[in-house]
Amino acid sequence: MKPTPFIAGNWKMNETIAEATALVTALKDAVKDVKGIDIAVAPTATALSSVAPLLKGTNIALSSQNVHWADHGAFTGEISVNMLKEIGCAWAIIGHSERRQYFGETNEGVNKRATAAIRAGLGAIICVGETLAEREAGKTLEVVSTQVKEGLNGLTAEDSKLLVIAYEPVWAIGTGKVATTAQAQEVHAHIRSLLKAQFGDEAGAAVRIQYGGSVKPGNAAELLAQPDINGALVGGASLKAADFAAIIRAALN
Ligand code: PGA
Repeated sequence: MKPTPFIAGNWKMNETIAEATALVTALKDAVKDVKGIDIAVAPTATALSSVAPLLKGTNIALSSQNVHWADHGAFTGEISVNMLKEIGCAWAIIGHSERRQYFGETNEGVNKRATAAIRAGLGAIICVGETLAEREAGKTLEVVSTQVKEGLNGLTAEDSKLLVIAYEPVWAIGTGKVATTAQAQEVHAHIRSLLKAQFGDEAGAAVRIQYGGSVKPGNAAELLAQPDINGALVGGASLKAADFAAIIRAALN
């Protein structure tokens, strides 16, 4: 049985508080009848506490775009798990390729962030994916294996209940170039085998693996129909309520 699909919107550094509340208000209305799909949005940190009350009692969960591993302390610019839970976040995106590329985040840091989040009851969406140069050099599976193994180091089958992996080929993010369904499924199947090796067959089969990178209403259904694609992490198209709602509905099929 396939796990419940999970569609998350990563708003990145977009939307002021006013824009974020308008977007989420429109989205709530557009998907209020949707059942059987997990949905989340990840606004910027400044908009989290304004969006949170609007999502109470709806079918949309709140996510942050990152989380730190320490409870509190001298970590300028960072936000702790407890601070996010206090606002009402259920999820944190961790190790997005933009964090890795522009802010030097490493697999080790991703592992510390994810472990702290999960052990304190915050779901972790860990992002992995190869660059174009790595794909062209035939290193996709090797790079993704290292990111998954090091990112999940020490996590147990119990921890895996709060774990989601997002496979996002870096060359497909924000470029309009989407991986073919065969390219995506190949990497997802590989990630699935790594999850089963670490957590056992049953727990490994239950971890959702999202695809991310130029997911749009027009390509979502085909991607989501693949056996090991259990959802999507959506950037650009999640900033338009109608487009994001259409992607969510594509997961209903
Ligand atoms: P995109 O971004 O949908 O705009 O390509 C996806 C992501 O970075 O999560």
